Amino acid sequence: MSNKEAYKRLCDEIWEHNWHYYVKNAPKISDYAFDKLFEELIKIEAEHPEWISPSSPTQRVGEMVSGGFSVEKHQIPMLSLANSYSPEEVTEFLNRIEKLLHKQNITYLTELKMDGIAISVRYEEGVLVRAVTRGNGMEGEMITSNIRTIESLPLKLRGNFPKVLEARGEVYLSKTAFETLNKQQEKSGKPLFANPRNAAGGSLKLLNPIEVAKRKLAISFYGIADISPDAPTTQYEALKLLQKLGLPIAGEFKQCHHFDEIWNFAEKVEKMRPTLPFEIDGIVIKVDELGAQKKLGVTGKNYRWAVAYKFAPERTETVIREITVQVGRTGVLTPVAELDPVLVAGSTISRATLHNEDEVMRKDIRVGDSVFIEKGGDVIPKVVEVNKAKRPKSAQPWEMPTRCPACDTPVMRSEEEVAVRCPNRTGCPAQELKRIIFFTSKSGMDIDHLGEKIVTQLVEMGFVKRLSDIYELTAEQLFQLKNFKEKAVQNILSSLEASKDVPLGRFIMALGIKYVGAETADLLAERVGDLEKVALMTEEELLELEGIGPKVAEALVTYFADHDHQDEITRLLENGVKPSVQKVVGFQDHLFRGKTFVLTGGLEHYTRDHARSLIKERGGKVTSSVSKSTDYVLAGEDPGSKYEKAQKLGVKILNEEEFLALL
Ligand code: IVH
Repeated sequence: MSNKEAYKRLCDEIWEHNWHYYVKNAPKISDYAFDKLFEELIKIEAEHPEWISPSSPTQRVGEMVSGGFSVEKHQIPMLSLANSYSPEEVTEFLNRIEKLLHKQNITYLTELKMDGIAISVRYEEGVLVRAVTRGNGMEGEMITSNIRTIESLPLKLRGNFPKVLEARGEVYLSKTAFETLNKQQEKSGKPLFANPRNAAGGSLKLLNPIEVAKRKLAISFYGIADISPDAPTTQYEALKLLQKLGLPIAGEFKQCHHFDEIWNFAEKVEKMRPTLPFEIDGIVIKVDELGAQKKLGVTGKNYRWAVAYKFAPERTETVIREITVQVGRTGVLTPVAELDPVLVAGSTISRATLHNEDEVMRKDIRVGDSVFIEKGGDVIPKVVEVNKAKRPKSAQPWEMPTRCPACDTPVMRSEEEVAVRCPNRTGCPAQELKRIIFFTSKSGMDIDHLGEKIVTQLVEMGFVKRLSDIYELTAEQLFQLKNFKEKAVQNILSSLEASKDVPLGRFIMALGIKYVGAETADLLAERVGDLEKVALMTEEELLELEGIGPKVAEALVTYFADHDHQDEITRLLENGVKPSVQKVVGFQDHLFRGKTFVLTGGLEHYTRDHARSLIKERGGKVTSSVSKSTDYVLAGEDPGSKYEKAQKLGVKILNEEEFLALL
């Protein structure tokens, strides 16, 4: 039988193999031999549960986190990096540093800029004690139980460890783990993640560590926030120390002494980028000496001693096999390029929107053309340009069809807009399908589990012909969906119930009335306050409301005068849908009260409309352009010029996590 010392030795032996396997990528023993050791450990622990310490290799996956994650303050704030996009901007950074330090010949450390989720991980006496997300930089969520499931992360440091170590790094998902995850999501009818970073962020928020473990997250470290005793004196030493302690650092880092060396590093990494097993979005250039870093300090929310150099979005070349035309919920026809599938920025792309006829003409895009596809951090891939050198002789200019591809009605063009529309609003099956999809989506009734794919199936099967049919779906019908068992059916039925209590603004929005977006819908809800009243208003009355113009007023009156629409609304209400005016109670003293927000970039957890109503509920205001009087800019993925303007004006920029925390 074993004794406790032998048990501890076995734990250490397994940790050692774990490190060789996951961090060094050079296993010393076969998987089979490793499994045998692990089984042995499990056996001993079953016999001696009193010996098990939280840092045993078996203790990666713990209990469910009940009631959500607790919020923890960062003892040392987690700030951000300023970005640079050109050799000139990198040079500016170097000059600035020289000037501030009154010194030349400064050593820099260059690293990969991992595209994941920032995390602070604390070890005490060599044992992992907590891990906290960046959050708003001052405080984040304690997600220790989820971090423990990351196989390359040791629960115990190697060798001569310091008494305290708080290391900072990035949790990410490898390109292959991301693809596997999205395939599973697709199979189970769940929404796909836009990119590995979103998937990593979503995974860290799961409450069940068993589920997190399945996601196969990884981690890479890039710095030390706190260490005692014996702090390193340079960033280079700090990284070497982290490696020595068994913490993984993905990719290479290098000490550089002047611009050329830095630029070589950047170019080399950029070349390697497509072949790396994980996503990066650039490199980070840091002043190497930690004392100098301290002197340089921070500016706003950024460290002054470092800068990110961001790569241009990845480009890939592929061929357009066909240009199809999609009909949207308001009848707009959109050309879509059907591509030979290619891997761009970690996901396989086989379609790309071409936006509108003008865009196709401007870029002279033809069927058969070789084109460059670009994909930034966002979901939507872009056709950037045609590789004219490869154009087949037979390629003909593309023309917008003159009839709707879904219902054959002649299309309409108007002088005022570039869009070409199918005017058959009530009889076009493509428009109806899109309206139903929009109705159930987050911007509409927000019915969980009723995503685009399922709604499409329901429509194809003839169970849903119009909006109100959604609330008349029966379990019997749902069971006929592909791969649907008890649980999936129950999920939809309860989501349907839950969605019936809906804010009036969102209900009006969900109806899909022409020209009525979130802003107008909310305005009607707030100012009129009652669905029936809204439906009975005349154009004159509507025009009296500030913010409603003649086009919208006319569209509203036309919509509500239509008998089919009246009938639809009656059926929805009879089926228990209860639009109500939002209560402001509960948010009386919210931080957002009286604050002005601007939204930019794509959000992961909410649609913009939803974010807008969350802000409004809390007494805040949303405007469309950034000025000195803007209080916050909520920046999602790929934020545009509004982000830069906010930076220039010193307006506080919130990322989605920070926004969530403030909510
Ligand atoms: S140093 C907490 N070095 O880039 C800020 N950041 O602001 C630490 N990132 O959220 C700045 N790779 O998570 C640093 N080698 C690296 C990095 C890196 C990725 C992330 C970091 C931060 C974001 C930029």
